[in-house]
Amino acid sequence: MADFQTRDPRSPAFWDERFDKQFTPWDHGGVPARLRQFVQDSPAPLRCLIPGCGSAYELVFMFDSGWDATAIDFSPAAVAAARIVVGERRAGQVVEADFFAWQPTAPLDLIYERAFLCAMPRAMRAQVAARWAQLLAPGAMLAGYFFFDEHAKGPPFGITHEQLQELLSPYFECLIDEAVTDSIAVFAGKERWMVWSRRAG
Ligand SMILES: C[S@@+](CC[C@H](N)C(=O)[O-])C[C@H]1O[C@@H](n2cnc3c(N)ncnc32)[C@H](O)[C@@H]1O
Repeated sequence: MADFQTRDPRSPAFWDERFDKQFTPWDHGGVPARLRQFVQDSPAPLRCLIPGCGSAYELVFMFDSGWDATAIDFSPAAVAAARIVVGERRAGQVVEADFFAWQPTAPLDLIYERAFLCAMPRAMRAQVAARWAQLLAPGAMLAGYFFFDEHAKGPPFGITHEQLQELLSPYFECLIDEAVTDSIAVFAGKERWMVWSRRAG
């Protein structure tokens, strides 16, 4: 295993170092199945944000399905990796930005979550949830994969069902909560596909 200099996942340097050393155990290597189905089942194309996109496999799939999507990551090495994955034609849709500062140019229909909340120290969760809520108007959705685990060390930093409910229920209503069938090793048996709808107010 690589020997890492950076230990603080709140810093872009932490993620740069891991992308540079090609140590990315969270990387699915493609588009997860339940997201594919969700995109295919969508009655209309959506405008989607992918925060902390990493390799951003999902971006091309969304575009090919007629969606408008933007992928953001604050790690220059992650952005470089994503631009290779998405290709020259879509490279402009991968933006180097901090999730807490990035501003949409048009209203979002959806935020896609995968391995972003669990990349943050637990103390930052309330900030993430508040920012999700700020970026989505009532009726817009937060959908993706949530990691459930109580192990103290991370990333990934897991959450319990009760904690997630407490975190999101002030802003969101849970519409779908399902087991995941194609998890990679680090998340196997511990992640669920969830769709949350932004509440009014
Ligand atoms: C565990 S990786 C997951 C990447 C991707 N979502 C995936 O499923 O493969 C977490 C990513 O979030 C990014 N990240 C962490 N904090 C961020 C922030 N405040 N703003 C933007 N990106 C951030 C990291 O650079 C890293 O690429």
